Amino acid sequence: MTKPMVYVTRQVANEAIAMLEAVADVEVWAEDRPIPRDVLLQKAEEASALLTMLTERIDEELLMRAKRLRIVANMAVGYDNIDVAAAKRHGVIVTNTPDVLTEATADLAFALLMAAGRRLVEANRFLLAGGWTSWNPYLMVGQNIYGATLGIVGMGRIGQAVARRAAGFGMRILYHNRSRRPDAERTTGAQYAPFDELLRESDYVVLLTPLTEETRNLMGEREFSLMKPTAVFVNVSRGGTVDEAALYRALVDKQIWAAGLDVFQQEPVPLDNPLLSLPNVVALPHIGSATYQTRLEMARLAAANIAAVLSGEEPVTPV
Ligand code: GLV
Ligand code: GLV
Repeated sequence: MTKPMVYVTRQVANEAIAMLEAVADVEVWAEDRPIPRDVLLQKAEEASALLTMLTERIDEELLMRAKRLRIVANMAVGYDNIDVAAAKRHGVIVTNTPDVLTEATADLAFALLMAAGRRLVEANRFLLAGGWTSWNPYLMVGQNIYGATLGIVGMGRIGQAVARRAAGFGMRILYHNRSRRPDAERTTGAQYAPFDELLRESDYVVLLTPLTEETRNLMGEREFSLMKPTAVFVNVSRGGTVDEAALYRALVDKQIWAAGLDVFQQEPVPLDNPLLSLPNVVALPHIGSATYQTRLEMARLAAANIAAVLSGEEPVTPV
């Protein structure tokens, strides 16, 4: 009997590949750039399983051609790159990698909050450019983190992990979520707030919602205008949740004070994106879950999902 074929769209941990090799023939896109669309389509036609990154678009066109495909295991918690409804119609299971990346992503969200609030990147550039010629009491002053009000938009697992960190900084925590989370309120002390109230009252607004039709351009001109002129906006969700032109205007017009961005409308973000020209923007290349340990766990979980489905078992983390 011929083994099923698993196609992996980026080099991942050997340990995960070995898990797949136990149940399938494994092929890997080994180049250090995203797999070209035509290669992906061609490999999808032969594959029983795809282990994908957030850079791969899994849509009707691909699914129609992928007659043997049984599972798409996305190595990310977000899955806005996958047309889940179409996958369902084609009988293809979709899985993601929740939980294993929660703490690392919350660490990064908090790091970005602190970097933007205390001007870490700007101060580092200033020093390296020879700007530190004397000390003065207003040199690179930023905003308090300790005791400030944090507004978390999207109180899922990552939002709750950010709230736990904020508790250690003595922050007052507000959150907004589609549904209230009494459990999270009890464990983190966060208080539910209507969206506009959260925007008005928070010193730091951290966006952690998945990208859906409801959250596309969630933060626009109106929303930024409600925020404090001293407020810091942090986005660790998806670039599509923010109207970047509105964010740029809000920063330039001093409607808000700074921003920390791990995600952009277009990724990799083009260097002529006006946001990158602002000293009060800390920009990162979508590295929310990027630690050695977490990326290993994510690859293992994606592989475990594929191994389960190819063995006729239930996937571990279906979406
Ligand atoms: C990264 O953005 C993820 O969704 O895991
Ligand atoms: C989203 O899925 C989260 O884990 O917060």
